[in-house]
Amino acid sequence: MDESRLVAAAVGARGRAYAPYSEFAVGAALLSKGGRVFTGCNVENASYGLTVCAERVALFKAVSEGVREFEAIAVACGDTPCSPCGACRQALREFAPDLKVVLADAEGRKWETTTLSQLLPRAFGPSDLED
Ligand code: THU
Repeated sequence: MDESRLVAAAVGARGRAYAPYSEFAVGAALLSKGGRVFTGCNVENASYGLTVCAERVALFKAVSEGVREFEAIAVACGDTPCSPCGACRQALREFAPDLKVVLADAEGRKWETTTLSQLLPRAFGPSDLED
C-alpha cells in the first residue's frame, strides 16, 4: 500500500476523534504485514487520565483481532505533522520494532517518513526480560 492511502485512512480516522477537552484531534492508520489497515482516533474522558491516544487505539484493535505483525503506521494531526507520544512509541515497539512511521498533518496534505527505531532508540523490549 502506498503512503498516501495510509495517510488518507489516518485523516479519516481523525474525523472520528473524541477530543472535547483538548480539542486536539488525532487519527492513526496501522498497516499489518498481511495488508489490513486498522484505524484509531484519540478517545478522551472527563477523567482526563483515561484518555487513549489514536495510535494505541489502532494497535489494540489490531492485536485484539489477532494481528501482531505490522509494516507501517500513519498519524494525522496538527498544522504541521506531529509525532507519536512516548507511550505510543513504546506500545508499538512491543510488536513492530522495525515499523515505518508516516507523520502527516491534519488534512494529509504533507507528510514525512521516519522509523520507530529512529523515534525510540535503544528501546526496552521483550528480550530485555530474558537477561
Ligand atoms: N494524542 C494522540 O492521540 N496521540 C499522540 O501521539 C499524542 C497525543 C492525543 C491525546 C489527547 O487526546 C490529545 O492528543 C492531546 O494530547
